[in-house]
Amino acid sequence: MYIAIPAEITPRETRVAATPETVKKLIAAGHEVTVQQSAGVCAMISDADYVAAGATIAADASATSLHADMVLKVRAPLIEELPTLRQGAVVVAIFSPFTNPNLLSYRDENLTCLALELVPRISRAQSMDVLSSQANIAGYKSVLMAQAYYARFMPMLMTAAGTVQPAKVLVLGAGVAGLQAIATAKRLGARVEAFDVRAAAREQVESLGARFVEVASDEDAEDAGGYAKEMSADYQQRQSALVAERAIASDIVITTALIPGRPAPILIQSAVVEQMRMGSVIVDLAAEMGGNCALTEKDAVVVRHGVTIIGDSNIPAQMAADASHLYARNVLNFIQLLVHSEDATLKVDAADEIIAATMLCHEGDFLQPKFLTNSTKEDV
Ligand code: NAI
Repeated sequence: MYIAIPAEITPRETRVAATPETVKKLIAAGHEVTVQQSAGVCAMISDADYVAAGATIAADASATSLHADMVLKVRAPLIEELPTLRQGAVVVAIFSPFTNPNLLSYRDENLTCLALELVPRISRAQSMDVLSSQANIAGYKSVLMAQAYYARFMPMLMTAAGTVQPAKVLVLGAGVAGLQAIATAKRLGARVEAFDVRAAAREQVESLGARFVEVASDEDAEDAGGYAKEMSADYQQRQSALVAERAIASDIVITTALIPGRPAPILIQSAVVEQMRMGSVIVDLAAEMGGNCALTEKDAVVVRHGVTIIGDSNIPAQMAADASHLYARNVLNFIQLLVHSEDATLKVDAADEIIAATMLCHEGDFLQPKFLTNSTKEDV
């Protein structure tokens, strides 16, 4: 199979979908791999590293991908990338299907699009779980970003000049990113508390040495897939009062609360920011889906009422080397499902539950209408 790794052209995307390690394994499995010139440079991988792993380097996106059976990307193709892809090719990427306006264009180009964020969270698919591998990085880096803007220490210090109190960190949403943020803030010596609507999160939060902030409720907050559901108005009101109280008492707030396919819940209102201590920092990991703080501006750092609010929507891209390293392994594990092991040819087995869950379009059909808006639905 011919496999292409084009350079990412989505603004601020620094990651790459294959590393020398995964290229070497693809070549050993019988594939031919072409990488676009400089595709790995922001992830600290040179063209020479890819060549040493056995890849061919191509000068531009068309020369890389136009004849490929399979194209491995980090971000879904932009409209201007479509002419560089062969009709009928398989594209493996993060497609952001809830917000991507180009879904029907992929179908029109007869692409087979496999969206990695839709890999089901079953044990067989754990090694392919890009949401976890990238959220883990976002959680870690968010704490370091907060510290960079915070004009005080994280740990408690006892010095001859007096005692410095530890920073108080509040983490909202204790999924993969939130748990890594808790662990990182604890390692830096902060006093950490965390809140999640899922009661199951309590044990995980406490096992990391943080305090769990609880809204008493009988409501079931988890759907069948283990994700959070939207909660009742009554719950939201009680949650809002408690979160406000804890945020005002904190120095750093890391927000990670997401509900699949829905705008992110607003957990920090403007009036709460107003009451936070001057110099506090909020890192909003939900910025891509509208943000958990009412004052977040996507992809900007703003200061409101003396509080720095960071709305970076692609924090893993700030750690491009390790983010690519883990992403590329997820991709490699995933595409093993798409290959006949005897002769390394392409196999798209829609009966496999992992492939079926990720397949947005195939052979000219769009297969997951739930991702279309009312206006695009009419075009199906
Ligand atoms: P996510 O990125 O969808 O959401 C982040 C967190 O925000 C979640 O913990 C969610 O409960 C929480 N949240 C949503 N609304 C909230 C609100 N209003 N207030 C406070 N918190 C709110 O979640 P993530 O990190 O992708 O994990 C989702 C679930 O999947 C978790 O149960 C996790 O343990 C599970 N999981 C399972 C895996 C597997 O079995 N292979 C791998 C990774 C995660």
